[in-house]
Amino acid sequence: SGSSSKNASLPSILLAGPSGAGKTALLTLFEKRAGRSTSTSTDEKTEPAKTHTSQTPVSTKLNAAAPFSSSSTSVSSPSDNQPKRNFLLIDTPGHPKLRSTALSHLLPLDPKSGRPLPPSSKSSQPIKGVIFLLDASTLSPSSPDSSLSQAATYLYDLLLSLQHRYSRYTKGSKHPPSIPVLIAANKLDLFTALPATLVKKELEAELGRIRVSRSKGLLDSGVKEEDVTAGEKEEGDDWLGEYGSESFEFRQMVEFDIEVEVMGGSVLGNGGEGEGPGCEGWWKWVVERV
Ligand code: GTP
Ligand code: MG
Repeated sequence: SGSSSKNASLPSILLAGPSGAGKTALLTLFEKRAGRSTSTSTDEKTEPAKTHTSQTPVSTKLNAAAPFSSSSTSVSSPSDNQPKRNFLLIDTPGHPKLRSTALSHLLPLDPKSGRPLPPSSKSSQPIKGVIFLLDASTLSPSSPDSSLSQAATYLYDLLLSLQHRYSRYTKGSKHPPSIPVLIAANKLDLFTALPATLVKKELEAELGRIRVSRSKGLLDSGVKEEDVTAGEKEEGDDWLGEYGSESFEFRQMVEFDIEVEVMGGSVLGNGGEGEGPGCEGWWKWVVERV
């Protein structure tokens, strides 16, 4: 439709992260606070997110100039005296089989050949940032159903896509515009939730373990390096961050022009409903980047 091609050029924020993190709940909340119910969903209208696992991406138009009050009862009306600073928030499904939906926004693939397309191609939206949302209440490695490994695996693939985007698509010496990543540690209203500093520490450790096991996997597969199709895969292609470094740290991504920040918050339990810190910090991060 005409409106969707107009929306395609709006600055966009990609919402990614494992299933159950609260992505759709966050989109619904942002929409309530700063949207004008102009949801361009391909899904049914964003109903209460509770028991609903997303299967298709949904994008909604928001206004970065809208007042973002921490009170859930205040209804924002960004229309009249607010200057319009519209942007799109793109919600994606977290199910492992559907994650390519999110990753293809960062590293578009040619549908015919399956090979990566340059990010400047017309089909891609101008992504100004990624919110990687995760459930901090199940992240502790000692929690019985720890989501750490799941979340870190997805995050590894996402950061690696951005790293490839940076290093593969140089035009002369020019790299594509950088895409910062906000790791949003959600559900801090729950007592089992790890604070942001620990979330960062656990993720860095787990990403380091994944990095080692993936590089070993290549070595252990018995494939001699000469047998790997020449030019297809370079040495260190699956290595995230500083090559050969002993432990992984998020600040290694700066080498690839990728800013990573970890910030805690909660979609639920703010504005008098509970103990959560809310998500105003995430909103501010977004507003500064669109
Ligand atoms: P997929 O669509 O499967 O990728 O999951 P999702 O990330 O969209 O998760 P969704 O928004 O559907 O939320 C999953 C559950 O977490 C829902 O029951 C939400 O109500 C709940 N939830 C979201 N945010 C919070 C929070 O801050 N605190 C608590 N306690 N629960 C939350
Ligand atoms: Mg969802």
